[in-house]
This record gives sequence, structure tokens and C-alpha cells, in this order.
Amino acid sequence: MDKARQRLELLWQRGRAFLGTEFAIMGGAMSWISERHLVAAISNGGGFGVLASGTMTPERLEEEIKATQALTDRPFGVNLITMHQQLDALIDVCGALGVGHVVLAGGLPTTAAIRRAKAHGGKVMCFAPTVPFARKLVRTGIDALVIEGTEAGGHIGPVSTSVLAQEILPEVPEVPVFVAGGIGRGEAMLSYLEMGAAGCQLGTRFVCATECVAHPRFKQAFIKAAARDAVPSTQVDPQFPVIPVRALPNAATRRFVEFQQEVIARCRAGELPAKEAQLQIEHYWAGALRRAVIDGDVENGSLMAGQSVGMVTREQPTVEILREMVDQALAALAAREGRPLALAGQ
Ligand SMILES: Cc1cc2nc3c(=O)[nH]c(=O)nc-3n(C[C@H](O)[C@H](O)[C@H](O)COP(=O)(O)O)c2cc1C
Repeated sequence: MDKARQRLELLWQRGRAFLGTEFAIMGGAMSWISERHLVAAISNGGGFGVLASGTMTPERLEEEIKATQALTDRPFGVNLITMHQQLDALIDVCGALGVGHVVLAGGLPTTAAIRRAKAHGGKVMCFAPTVPFARKLVRTGIDALVIEGTEAGGHIGPVSTSVLAQEILPEVPEVPVFVAGGIGRGEAMLSYLEMGAAGCQLGTRFVCATECVAHPRFKQAFIKAAARDAVPSTQVDPQFPVIPVRALPNAATRRFVEFQQEVIARCRAGELPAKEAQLQIEHYWAGALRRAVIDGDVENGSLMAGQSVGMVTREQPTVEILREMVDQALAALAAREGRPLALAGQ
């Protein structure tokens, strides 16, 4: 094995062992997108696919897990949304079907949910937005963390991936930490591994995978978009908070601003209680991702995308995307060999 390959093996050994994969690359769960085909393709390609359960019922999740297991005998995970009303039942479905890794997303999970998932013998992963949260989750017994920067697609926090990585990676040596948000090339993945990450998680880069069931118009929007097109949702008034979501602009995002203005004006005029106004704003996007991903309505649906969308240039097989990431990391490592050591001040 050449030196570059040896170095990469060493760098992501912990992540690979944790996931049980050839590469420590996770395909981040994306609602409607990360279903059986993409998840199986990522796992079969040497990465780690994660099923997005979104609003699925336990029965529907059971069907999807079984269908994925029929397409791959490699490890994959299931992403569960912590505020789902049937979270316990969903956890039990994962346990009964032998899912090795459960990712609890969409808010800080309760200790009871973590314990329930662990009681089935699987590994539990959670998202940590800050060092104190990360430490708390480690104390609660989670097995690994994902840190996701604001460059990511979908629901986002305020802090960039590079800053989160600097803040959190040195502080949480106890568990493997996977870095997500804005990663589009192998060199970036390598840099986070060198900072102590166990592996990386990518979402946006996998949307245009050949195996991904997203509508061709959804994929086209990704192929056309530049990094700067993927912007957070607009909040009109801080009194009526909007959950930040990074997406490509379209008719729906423009109408969302007008919609907020109208609802807030009606509230100010005494026609609508503030609570009702807030609810209406929150419900605006209900069903919108499905509309874009499945129906192909890219004007009236939600085009959630991360800034790495600029590096999505064509539809390509999942295995090729994974290979590109690995080859870029290896090429970067190989390029350093024989390079003189640059000392500070020289
Ligand atoms: C279209 C889309 C849908 C997503 N849906 C979910 C989801 O349902 N649950 C979740 O935990 N993360 C979701 N994410 C975040 C991804 O799992 C992943 O962490 C993120 O895409 C990584 O950043 P990147 O897009 O820059 O690669 C979504 C991302 C995108 C682009």
C-alpha cells in the first residue's frame, strides 16, 4: 500500500470501524431523497447510507428498512426526528430489524430516547451544535456525534463548519465525531480528518447521484446552481421567528416573504392572534420538499440545498462520487510527499 493510502487509512480508521465501512463517508439523511435506492447505493459503494424517516409511520419505516436490506447487506443507518410523535415506536422498529446505527436528529434527544435506542444493541448518533451540548450527549451515553455547519443544506445552525470543527473536535475525544456541511471535495474531507474528525457526512453532493430518485427537474436545479445561490430562508420580523433552512431561491421562497408580511400585518391589525400567525408561518413549508423532490415542482416546492451545490456539476453514479472524494484526498496526500517542511518564519 502506498504512503498516501496508509495515511488515509490511519486518519479515518476510527470512523470506518464505527460505521463498519470501507470509507468513513456518511450520506446524510435527506427527506424524500435518502430512501432505499440512494441509501443502498451509498452503502454498496463503500460509504454509509442513512435512511431519512421524516414523517413516516412505524409501518412505513419498517417497509423501507426491509426494502433497503433487500438491496444491500452492508451497514446503513436510520435517521429519526426526535419530535416525531411516535419516536419510541420508530426506535423499536429499528431495533427489531437489527439496524446497527440510529441517528437522532431535529433537536436534542431526551435521555429516555437515547437509552431506548441503545437498549436494542445498536449505536446512537446525535447532532451537537455546541461544546456543552456535545459534552452533555457524551455523558448521556451516545456513541458518536455529527457536527453540521451552516453551509449545509436543509435546516441549519448559525456557525460555519470550519469553526464548529475547531471548537468541538479537540473537546470531544471520547467518541467519533463526523463533520458535515459544505463538504464537496476530498481535500476538504481530508482537512477535517486531519483536525481529528472520524469521518464526514455529505448530503448535497449525493442529490444528483444516478441512483437518487429525486425528480430530474430537482437534479437540474442543483446542476445549474452556484454556491451563492443556496441561501438561508428570509425572516421578515424577529418577533415571528423562521426556522433557518438553506435552499435555492424560487417562486415559493419569494412568496414566503410576502406571506410573512401579510400574516404579520393581519396580526398587527388585530385580525389574527400572534400564536396563530406564528403557526401559519411555520406551516407554510409543509409538504414543500416532497413537492419539489418527488413531483418535480421546482417553483412551488422547497429546493433545500447546501453551498456545496456549486460543486454538483452533473448526474453521476454514487460509486463515482465516493471514489472522487477518496481519490482527491489521496492525491492531496501524495502531493505532499517529498515536499520540504515549511518552518514558521522561513
Ligand atoms: C434536500 C435536503 C434534505 C435534508 N433532509 C434532512 C433530514 O430529513 N434530516 C436530517 O437530519 N438532515 C437532513 N438534511 C441534512 C443532511 O443530512 C446533511 O447533514 C447535509 O446535507 C450536509 O451538508 P451538505 O448538504 O453541505 O453536504 C437534508 C439536506 C438536504 C440538502
